[in-house]
Amino acid sequence: MKIIGLVGSPRKDGNTDVLLQKALEGAKAQGSETAIFYLNEGNIRGCQACGGCKKAGKCVIKDDLTEIFAAIDEADGVILGSPIYFGRFTAQTALFMDRLYGYLKQDFSSSLGKGKKFALIFTQNQPDSALYADTIKAAAQELELIGFTAGPQPLVGTRLMDAGIVRENKQLLQTAYDIGQELARR
Ligand SMILES: Cc1cc2nc3c(=O)[nH]c(=O)nc-3n(C[C@H](O)[C@H](O)[C@H](O)COP(=O)(O)O)c2cc1C
Repeated sequence: MKIIGLVGSPRKDGNTDVLLQKALEGAKAQGSETAIFYLNEGNIRGCQACGGCKKAGKCVIKDDLTEIFAAIDEADGVILGSPIYFGRFTAQTALFMDRLYGYLKQDFSSSLGKGKKFALIFTQNQPDSALYADTIKAAAQELELIGFTAGPQPLVGTRLMDAGIVRENKQLLQTAYDIGQELARR
């Protein structure tokens, strides 16, 4: 199995990154090959609505998402992590999400390979883990529309203002690890 993590936070070693790395540790312990990508790094453009993907069968923009799409094509599972910014996922995550349009054919059926699962990890400062349920639901619905299958329940880490403070929360770290393990199980 190949499991990849996508970090939608600009903070390396921030809470999202730490939880994603934990989840990938869990996947690795299950025997999976893993890789992590940072959506804040490099040059990533938003969807240009050029329609090129509808003719070429994949996104035609050549930038740093090209490598990430190649990794998705090879992967059995994807773990997407984002902090909550003003009730939404981050702009870095949104750029990625929009570009998944490239996996929809002219008739809006999916060209993504079959059987790819996803898991979601969100981080926020607010204590109520249900506060941004609509955002999480929207992310899950989009990934399902693109052709991914829902894996483990999403993880929502709360009370996480300072970068990396999640390291003090053993329970959240364990849940992230378990998500990685579960995703990597056939
Ligand atoms: C611009 C900005 C907007 C934020 N908006 C929210 C918000 O609406 N609700 C919330 O609970 N936390 C909010 N936060 C806090 C982050 O979600 C939280 O610190 C998260 O753990 C950051 O993840 P990171 O460490 O991976 O960067 C915001 C933080 C920033 C920088």
